Amino acid sequence: MRLHVNIFDTDKAQFTILPDVIALPDAEDDPSLKRNSDLEFHYESSPFAFWITRRSEPDAQPLFDTRTSSLPSTPIPPIIASDNSTALDGFPLVFEDQYLQLTSALPLGANIYGLGEVLSSSGFRRDIGTDGGVGTIQTLWARDSPDPINQNVYGSHPIYLEHRYNQTTRHSQSHGVFHFGAAGSDILLLTPPSSPVSVIEYRLLGGTLDFYFFSGPSPQKVIEQYGDLIGHPTWLPAWGFGFQLSRWGYSDVNDTRDQVVKMREANIPLEVMWNDIDLYHAIRDFTTDPVSFPAEEVRAFIDELTANQQHYIPIVDAAIPILVNDSDVYDPYSRGTELDVFLKNPDGSQYLGQVWPGYTVFPDWFANNTQSFWTEALRNWFQSGVNYSGIWLDMNEPSSFCIGSCGTGANLTAATIPTQFFPGTPGNLVTDYPEGYNATIWGPSGNITINGTLTFGNNSAANALSKRGLGAAAESGVNLNTPPYAIHNADGILSTHTVSTNATHANRVVELDVHNVWGLMEEKATHLALLDIHPGKRPFLISRSTFPSSGKWTGHWLGDNISKWQYMYLSIQGVLQFQLYQIPFVGADTCGFQGNTDEELCNRWMQLSAFLPFYRNHNVRSALSQEPYRWDSVANASRTAISVRYSLLPYWYTLFANASLHGSPPIRALFFEFPDEPELFAVDRQYLIGRDLLVTPVLTPNVSSVDGIFPGQGRVVWRDWYTQEVVNASISTNTTLGAPLGHINVHIRDGSAILLHEEPAYTIAQTRQGPYSLLVAQAADGYAFGTAYIDDGETVPPTPNTTLTMKARKGAVTIYPNGDYWITQRLHIVTVLGAAQTLPTEVTVDGVQTAAWQYDSHVYRLVIKALNLDLNKPHSVEWK
Ligand code: NOJ
Repeated sequence: MRLHVNIFDTDKAQFTILPDVIALPDAEDDPSLKRNSDLEFHYESSPFAFWITRRSEPDAQPLFDTRTSSLPSTPIPPIIASDNSTALDGFPLVFEDQYLQLTSALPLGANIYGLGEVLSSSGFRRDIGTDGGVGTIQTLWARDSPDPINQNVYGSHPIYLEHRYNQTTRHSQSHGVFHFGAAGSDILLLTPPSSPVSVIEYRLLGGTLDFYFFSGPSPQKVIEQYGDLIGHPTWLPAWGFGFQLSRWGYSDVNDTRDQVVKMREANIPLEVMWNDIDLYHAIRDFTTDPVSFPAEEVRAFIDELTANQQHYIPIVDAAIPILVNDSDVYDPYSRGTELDVFLKNPDGSQYLGQVWPGYTVFPDWFANNTQSFWTEALRNWFQSGVNYSGIWLDMNEPSSFCIGSCGTGANLTAATIPTQFFPGTPGNLVTDYPEGYNATIWGPSGNITINGTLTFGNNSAANALSKRGLGAAAESGVNLNTPPYAIHNADGILSTHTVSTNATHANRVVELDVHNVWGLMEEKATHLALLDIHPGKRPFLISRSTFPSSGKWTGHWLGDNISKWQYMYLSIQGVLQFQLYQIPFVGADTCGFQGNTDEELCNRWMQLSAFLPFYRNHNVRSALSQEPYRWDSVANASRTAISVRYSLLPYWYTLFANASLHGSPPIRALFFEFPDEPELFAVDRQYLIGRDLLVTPVLTPNVSSVDGIFPGQGRVVWRDWYTQEVVNASISTNTTLGAPLGHINVHIRDGSAILLHEEPAYTIAQTRQGPYSLLVAQAADGYAFGTAYIDDGETVPPTPNTTLTMKARKGAVTIYPNGDYWITQRLHIVTVLGAAQTLPTEVTVDGVQTAAWQYDSHVYRLVIKALNLDLNKPHSVEWK
């Protein structure tokens, strides 16, 4: 259930996000909802205030409440804007052209999740402050910055989930609040001195006070309800779940190919090989360097990958370089100029920023011809030999290294390639190592060499716009460059390190109003271009700057993290946040991007990321090489983890099908599944994959055990993934688990039935061709349940698909198919954990007795082998 409250200007001058950028569904036209909905709207007209309650809990503190009478009377500590402009006293509702403010009371110390993108020092649960403290100032202003803590970074997501626990009933409910707007903003979480309530305050630089409320009441329902509004995540090709390898600094085709060869020699599965901007000629988009990456060699290399069922992904930077002299030839710039698709200065000239290639223009996604320009550029590149399987969208905040249109009037023939910014150049050497790294023991190669010798070296908007909301461009007395309230953009003035706020889009839209949606619009345009280039095939994109609804078009990586243990930990909260944002296909630069990694960190990280959605090892230019084959122990750890990942592919695939169909989060914080257990509300060093798998990674150096909590307060039986033994878990507190290097703890929840690939292979395609097995972990009463969604793994839905439903009760497992996809792979093995307390006397398959089974009384495991079951038909396995 959702409720929409929109406070807008009746003269319709403020900027609003139009349906061609994000199309939201209409409200349900059902008058009975007013009487039945669990969300009730109340208001006072003067001064205007509103509050929202749950019909089912009329006496509880409202979910959202802007009444001054509900807000603290004590003044909040002054929150000085970064330009020293004064904040307003108290919590009035303000609606002006360039400053909007709205404050709601929250329960003291409320559990708030979301409001990013951020690397939060308080963890996945946000800091709401105590007694006079401002816990969080979350600024939303898309920013290219290498993963600072508690600052605005690449994406903007004004959505939060609040989880309320009632101490008396010991029962919890969640709800969600989404502000639909693109304006730069600060969102504050704070607790005034001696206040009985905490507070959330929105301070916006424009737009309207357009809010959506989601009733939950479970955390998962809140996330799904948000997805129902802004759109569910895109369908992924099955190969996207494979392991992917990248770095900035693969110097030529041979270097790139060498990685593919070495991965194969080390027998570490590699599904996708990436190239960074090294691929380009003069660091220009849609080119290949004629010397280091000649087009014909790139084509031949990608053909080899394709022949081996592997894939290739190149980078696409946001900015398009301009011509530097009269003899310069660069078609994307010339063609884009001809089609009039680039951002402009207020005087109508091209806006010229500066990025890697020198002075650049930036596509204006609001212009009429930009989609066709972009599709043409991507198609030409593909046809020139770079026959990619997917695209990596970088620098799309968009990043620009100078302030303002610095190329305007500049000497373009001068050397304009600022390679001095590159890591690894003099003055910018990569010398850092992980916490605890000891050069005298480990040596400059980062090897701890505890277990073995090294095998490899050391190293059309116009119509819609006329209807309403042109925004700052059309308002009088507006300050485009330095709005009267300065949000806490960590770069200072808004135009720093990005395109200026006065840059002008088609139809007069100004960058100030749409800065935060640049990445989203590029993602959408690229997704549509790929659909055009490969009709019917699911596009695969990974992008840096995101906004609500980006998940419809792309996945995300967490940007320029650091090769530190702290950042491995932070990657978990990053992935959890993006489940809430409906961009569930997300992952970090495994082994770390900035700085040098070392063997131990890379070992642990390769294992952790194998249990997160997007699995890519990426490294900065000139840092120590960190491909998983570089160290024996990392190679071993990677092989082990990847083989578990690939055997679990049907489970991952089903979770992502449920994300695309229903908006369900594939990765879950523990409290999503166990909402009434307060000891879980802050847990972000562990997480669940779907309902059934608990991951407890090692996140610190130099240890061989790890502490983790087992949810369920003693009512759930957890079994070790590898030994299948039941964990003797402490109730509501941590249990210490063995975790030697190369081992990641994974546990299976009881009551689960998981379809697996019996033979994880080198590639996803090979793995998918192999037979299935079924793993059932029965609860004490025999119950287990699971589903598996199966289709061809590449066609854009609607496409034939079949869902298998697996169920267990005491003495029986049944499998039932439903759908129109023909499953050619057979089911070979059924393993039932907790099956029977004593040796069964008889096992039947579809009513026929079989002798091909084994029983292990140690773990109460019954394994039925030598099956050859056609999964297009129902089956039952029974024992007594
Ligand atoms: C910034 C990206 O975040 C990083 O992943 C990439 O390697 C560099 N740009 C160079 O393209």
